Amino acid sequence: MRKYRRQALQNVVQSRGIMNATAVSHPNIAFIKYWGNRNSALRIPMNGSISMNLDSLTTRTTVSFQPSLPFDELIINGHEIMGAGLKRVSEILDLIRAKANINARAEAVTENNFPSGAGIASSASAFAALALAGSKAAGLELNERELSRLARRRSGSASRSVPAGFVEWQAGESDDDSFAFSIAPPNHWDLVDLVAIVSTAHKKTGSTEGHAIAPTSPLQAARVEDAPRRLDLCRQAILNKDFNAFASIVELDSDMMHAVMMTSTPALQYWKPASLAVMEAVRMWRADGLPACYTMDAGANTHVLTLESEAQGIEKKLRGIDGVENILIARPGGAAKI
Ligand code: PMV
Repeated sequence: MRKYRRQALQNVVQSRGIMNATAVSHPNIAFIKYWGNRNSALRIPMNGSISMNLDSLTTRTTVSFQPSLPFDELIINGHEIMGAGLKRVSEILDLIRAKANINARAEAVTENNFPSGAGIASSASAFAALALAGSKAAGLELNERELSRLARRRSGSASRSVPAGFVEWQAGESDDDSFAFSIAPPNHWDLVDLVAIVSTAHKKTGSTEGHAIAPTSPLQAARVEDAPRRLDLCRQAILNKDFNAFASIVELDSDMMHAVMMTSTPALQYWKPASLAVMEAVRMWRADGLPACYTMDAGANTHVLTLESEAQGIEKKLRGIDGVENILIARPGGAAKI
């Protein structure tokens, strides 16, 4: 019965010239951060970055190009979005339309199963899913590198949500050579990300504005200059599954990015008292021999990385910290897929 209904719907879609596709992707947590662009129009970053996709957090996006639509439409979790959010989506759809040589406007319907705009890279999974669903709906067959480059154009970190597992985005110097690739599959290492939710409020300053003011910090040049060293250490620690080496470089990199944020003009301050309490506790647990380290993106929520064997115990400890409202649990996730 269901099969016939699907077929009937497909016939209607085809007879009206509607082209649609649905993609699912995961956000990612950066271990070596991207902060600041060398070219902001193309989103060529100042430094390379490394991340892990987060399996239990998903974005599902359906794009349908419909000749009858007068303009693009964007619906996120049931709410129609206009203004800057819609503009960013339309810009990616424009790139797809140009490549596919079509004119039809599109409707993009997105569902996230996690809070957006709160330091869990919702824009990463959003633009990875949009690039994949949009290009597929337009009849394009882009390979992973092309999809990563396309997703990058409106959210740099989205380039890293296209490939699977542990991912590196090579900064590159042009649109052609700035893309992400997998350095290890999801089953390579049993890392767990416990995201301590200390606030679900939408952050006041988004990363686009943040990247733009990064060069105003006197610390940014030093952070960028040292990035190749941190990338090497982090990549090696992941490949060797060396948690201690991983922990030191991940915390250093997060602290360096937040130092740049705090010393930019205007200053950006994402930490809340509970974020700091989590960071202090994690440092203490590690000194006591537990495999745990922290990292924070552009938001107050603090990601605590640990190994599967210790995840339950650490989750329990985290729940006991004042101001921690909830914990999201994620393991290494796969690639964006149709
Ligand atoms: O991709 P954007 O523009 O949302 O920037 C992401 C910035 C950070 O999350 C803070 C760091 C990163 O590498 O993901």
